[in-house]
Amino acid sequence: MTLLSLSVRNDFPLLEREVGGKKIVYLDSSATSLKPQRVIDAVVGFYTQQTANVHRSVHLLSEEATDAYEMSRKQIASLVGADAREIAFTKNATEALNLLAINVDTNNLVGLPQIEHHSNLLPWIHHRHFYLPLDEDKRIDIEALKNIVRNDKPYLLTFATVSNALGIKHPVQELLNLCRAEGIKSILDLSQSVGHETVNLFSESCDFACFSGHKMLGPSGVGVLYQREGTSPALQPHYLGGEMVHQVHLDGFEARPFPWGMESGTPNIEGVIGLGAAAEYLEEIGTDAIAAHCNQLADELRHGISKLPRVKLQSNAADTGIVTFEVEGLSAHGVSRIMSNRFNIMVRSGFHCAQPLHELYEMPETVRASFHLYNTQEEVQQLLEALAVVQEMS
Ligand SMILES: Cc1ncc(COP(=O)(O)O)c(C=O)c1O
Repeated sequence: MTLLSLSVRNDFPLLEREVGGKKIVYLDSSATSLKPQRVIDAVVGFYTQQTANVHRSVHLLSEEATDAYEMSRKQIASLVGADAREIAFTKNATEALNLLAINVDTNNLVGLPQIEHHSNLLPWIHHRHFYLPLDEDKRIDIEALKNIVRNDKPYLLTFATVSNALGIKHPVQELLNLCRAEGIKSILDLSQSVGHETVNLFSESCDFACFSGHKMLGPSGVGVLYQREGTSPALQPHYLGGEMVHQVHLDGFEARPFPWGMESGTPNIEGVIGLGAAAEYLEEIGTDAIAAHCNQLADELRHGISKLPRVKLQSNAADTGIVTFEVEGLSAHGVSRIMSNRFNIMVRSGFHCAQPLHELYEMPETVRASFHLYNTQEEVQQLLEALAVVQEMS
């Protein structure tokens, strides 16, 4: 048995909440995860004990806040196998992807999957671009891509390691090997990977990566932009202002190096400190164990769904904690609303910010259940029992 101990649930205060005398079943962690008490304490601790700006003043509180902020950078780097100097803080993954796109000349050819989250689709819409070929399992087709790459010589490939809408994983290492061999720059959108599985950027050898804090048990409003040390050309700051500079004169300025040069103005200090606590917590639990736990719950859900005649799975992905499906004759939002109102089960419905994916496969809006370390087999059974009732409503 690869499941985590039920005692991890005690770390998540929201799981204590009851509605109508019944506990909430939270199955929407791909949208945003619940937060452990340790993260909440870290944020509250900043407000109650350490409130001060970072990297500016030399008084005690500012030094403590700066130390905590920079410690978080180290904790996050450690979680993803990077060096702290490779980790810059942004607002979220979307901002990181936009900053990356702004740094790439629009005449450079960029390759991306058509099935990406809008956050890794729209920032590239004005670049010369092409869509990566997909195989019958909806994964990037590496053999077909090799021919395209050799003929068209793209400058950059960018893709999410895990599709938020389907739960499939692309062949990440093969894609990165191809990029290395052909001299193509690479961006990994790790939004659905960090905190859900082990990520080692040192061995994965991409040039750039990003992820959001709120999906990895951290606070909202903070994300990460990774730049491999030595990557050339290095990213240039887009937002200019306080703290990201060494020197300012009226006829010019000298920016600080990455990552500090990317962090203009007062950052989300409490968010960063909370994210460091999340990274530390995830490392303690172990990301391999979390992946095994979520995969097993997803397997049990898929297995149960296969026995429900009017519920149709949208992907057979077997290596992530994301399961998407539709209920014959019912709208996805309708199913989600019934799940919430009648069963206290929170699932996501719609296009999952990946509308071109749905257009490509002529797929209607779907329902998505997504797991994290705090979910249980009992919750899977509750969802299956609820689906058995709901399928009769169409
Ligand atoms: C794969 C992927 N990329 C990017 C994003 C955007 O994340 P955020 O809204 O936190 O910027 C998401 C959010 O769902 C996602 O799943």
